[in-house]
Amino acid sequence: AWRASLLYFPEPAQAVLETDGLLVVGPDASGRQVVQAVGSYSALASRFPELDVTHLPGRIIAPGFVDMHIHYPQLDVIGSPAEGLLPWLENYTFPHESRFSDAAHNSEAATFFVDELLRHGVTTALAFATSHPASVNALLGEAQRRSLRLIAGKVLQDQNSPDGVRDETEQSLRDTEALITRWHGVDRLGYAITPRFVPSCSEAQLRGAGELAACYADVWIQSHVAENKDEVAWVRKLYPQARSYLSVYEQFGLLRPRAVYAHCIHIDDEDRALMRGTGTAAAVSPTSNLFLGSGFFDYQAADRTGFLYGLASDVGGGTSFSPFHTMLAAYYVGREGQTKPGLSLSPQQLWWQHTGGAARALGLEGVVGNLLPGCEADFVVLNPQATPLLARKTAQAASLDELLFALIVLGDDRVVENTVISQAGTT
Ligand code: GUN
Ligand code: FE
Repeated sequence: AWRASLLYFPEPAQAVLETDGLLVVGPDASGRQVVQAVGSYSALASRFPELDVTHLPGRIIAPGFVDMHIHYPQLDVIGSPAEGLLPWLENYTFPHESRFSDAAHNSEAATFFVDELLRHGVTTALAFATSHPASVNALLGEAQRRSLRLIAGKVLQDQNSPDGVRDETEQSLRDTEALITRWHGVDRLGYAITPRFVPSCSEAQLRGAGELAACYADVWIQSHVAENKDEVAWVRKLYPQARSYLSVYEQFGLLRPRAVYAHCIHIDDEDRALMRGTGTAAAVSPTSNLFLGSGFFDYQAADRTGFLYGLASDVGGGTSFSPFHTMLAAYYVGREGQTKPGLSLSPQQLWWQHTGGAARALGLEGVVGNLLPGCEADFVVLNPQATPLLARKTAQAASLDELLFALIVLGDDRVVENTVISQAGTT
């Protein structure tokens, strides 16, 4: 059990801070470490007199962050100067991803990547690997060793892709099915069928991906849609009959619950209704969209329609692993479409989008992203005094919103003192 200030969400986007709280963790029937009780120390301590309590005065325990879209082979692509998405892919991303045909490179990058996730307080992620099946084995193998809840997939890209990353249609689908069988549902791991985006996949590859998605209904799907205007124009040329870019994915059976599309910027209300109607989720990636100049996710239109979405780093189009940086960038992006006076997004909404809201969008509500009883015990220990300015600012915070905003605006990996992962077995 842990005694500290506890941040969690009794209701969606409604946070509470229990200033002197107790978090009780223990095994459930299947041996997973889950939250047994959460609340005020004075109310709970007498119910659990036998517990060994770690007391962390001055610290905040909060749900581990959930990153809905990240590319593990793009560590070395972060911050690459390019004119926009398509030149960035061609000049930096594809050359870097081609290095993942090498086993030693895979294993070094996988370890570095998982270390970075944990150092930044990210405990669940939906990740792209590369087109090389070995890149999935390296990443999910590393996540398994660390007991991390990670979902990943081999990228499908059989056209408009250079040698070194381009795969072959039939083989790519056989590889995908073999990887599903090997990894999906093993320990805390999941598999995502991963067509890179429409321009990089032949019709046959998209059709095969859709068939696998129908056959393995609890496997995830991840891709990109409507990120950049040149990309949208390219898809219009490839599919002149399609009503929209998003509708191409629909045509191949790739919109459904557990399908997650990064960006969703240049879409219209019919697309938004299609997202909602099919249970498809958006991974909002504001640092990436600002860095690559892709555009601004329309929060107001999303909320008007009511489809699922959550936050994502999109490293390496994104500029940081830090959930704090991503939440701050989302606040800036929300300002862009703002029509009402006031905050664009409240700090509680931002935090929710990167924890419980992202978990809900992934179909993992009640599993991760919160500290309610039954949730897997993945959490971060935050130090609100990690830097002189943050200590000064948080000491003056007169409300939960002020405290959360201080952390969002001034926070980074220095705030994350410890990341605790739910381990199988007994305490
Ligand atoms: N569209 C297709 N591939 C990619 C990628 O690797 N990153 C981003 N941001 N967009 C893409
Ligand atoms: Fe991406």
